[in-house]
Amino acid sequence: MLKENMNNEKEKILFVDDEESILDIASEYFQKKGYQVVTAKNGLEAVKILGDENIDCCFTDINMPEMDGLELAEHLRKTDNTIPVIIMTGYPSLENTIRTLKNGVVDFLIKPVNLNRMEVCLRRVLRERQLFVENIILKKEVEGKEQLERLNRELLYKVEELNILNKIMSDFTITSSSSDVFKRLVDTTIKIMHTDEARFYVINEAVKRPFKVTAAISIPNKTKSSAGTDKAIEKLIMETVSDEMPLLISENKGARSLPEDILSFMAVPLAIREKVFGVLTACIKKSSIRFTEKDLYYLSFMTNKAAYAIENLALYENIYENLFSTLYAFVKAIEARDPYTQQHSNRVTSISIVIGKEMGCTSEELDILNFAGHLHDIGKIGIRDAILLKPGTYTEEERNIIKEHPIIGASIIGQLWLLDSEKQIIKHHHERFDGTGYPDGLKNKEIPLLARILSVADVYDALASDRAYRKKMEKNEIIKIIKKGRGTQFDPDVVNAFLKLYHAGVIEKII
Ligand SMILES: [Fe+2]
Repeated sequence: MLKENMNNEKEKILFVDDEESILDIASEYFQKKGYQVVTAKNGLEAVKILGDENIDCCFTDINMPEMDGLELAEHLRKTDNTIPVIIMTGYPSLENTIRTLKNGVVDFLIKPVNLNRMEVCLRRVLRERQLFVENIILKKEVEGKEQLERLNRELLYKVEELNILNKIMSDFTITSSSSDVFKRLVDTTIKIMHTDEARFYVINEAVKRPFKVTAAISIPNKTKSSAGTDKAIEKLIMETVSDEMPLLISENKGARSLPEDILSFMAVPLAIREKVFGVLTACIKKSSIRFTEKDLYYLSFMTNKAAYAIENLALYENIYENLFSTLYAFVKAIEARDPYTQQHSNRVTSISIVIGKEMGCTSEELDILNFAGHLHDIGKIGIRDAILLKPGTYTEEERNIIKEHPIIGASIIGQLWLLDSEKQIIKHHHERFDGTGYPDGLKNKEIPLLARILSVADVYDALASDRAYRKKMEKNEIIKIIKKGRGTQFDPDVVNAFLKLYHAGVIEKII
């Protein structure tokens, strides 16, 4: 309505008065001056006209039948406050003047009204109105522009979000083996978020304490985190696992404070088949940026995709190969912590396989030996470094903790739905032929054959390598020990096969 009136050449004036002569005089005068004129005999008639036509200005008397001028002004103020109202009255009272002003009347003239004064007043009011209307239009334009800018910002934000999600999707769709899923998780976290450090820990029913499998940092050669920091992070990881919920500590203050060198922190559980398998963490240590709910959303999205990738690879591709390489990465990580055990699993596997061949194992059994041999000590993931890497002899308590590793290993393999045979071998590689081994004290043929084979290979390689607490043994000393263990620690048939290979120089070639 405002705009249309603005564009009209002739402005339309409404005169309201119960004295017809006044209406006639005003009509004639203002029409001559080039205005359109409409008249009404009282407020009610005026309201009707105002509803039907676009009026630019209204002159009204106060005292009229049906609806008086002040009521009309009030009506106008409520319905369209851009129409100026000029009151004409013969009896200006203080009360009327106040009501007039309250109702947004822009001016009032005292009767008898001089036409010339009316015109001056009209021009001024119309000019003010034009400014007022232009102002409103301008304001609306600014609001429109602001809205456009806001939509644009939202659009950019959405596009950015889509880009990030797309990046995550493609990163985890092209994963060809599950072994690099964890590496990809930490690398992608660094790439798409303002993160100084990302780590992936394995922690689940089998591995009770967080075990760091892989990590990535944004700027290399930063100061290493302190033991205290690692401990605090481990605590937060445990919390995340027990809550089974992503954790965001945006600011290092208040009740949820972090170690001094971490400014902002996130931890998200990765669940395989609805069971927590590990936790992805991200830290900000230097930059002024802080993690938000949005970042937590990205991180959760990513761990979900990674979990799907692992499940899909395991379900539809080469389950055996992929899971093996994933798990073997853990074993390599354990061996890397202890320089004395590096390549131990490799050598044990090779020795076991030649013994297995010598004893006439099928190719299927040799495959199982290959798998279980490489992974036989995977359960050491769940044992603290302080014990695992301790130089010198163990206390009784420490020895008992170490003895848990075959069970931990078996449950890791079991959790990943592998064949039962591999699991059994890992579980029983420390049983003794006479029934005094662990964890179950099985004896003789109760111990799976492949576990009996692995046991000899394991002991031979352990004695033939340097350890933190002793030098490697002379070969003939080792052979003595193995011979002595025939029938007590070891299966005599396995020992025989081993000795045959040893004297033929086959074992020497492996070590
Ligand atoms: Fe072992």
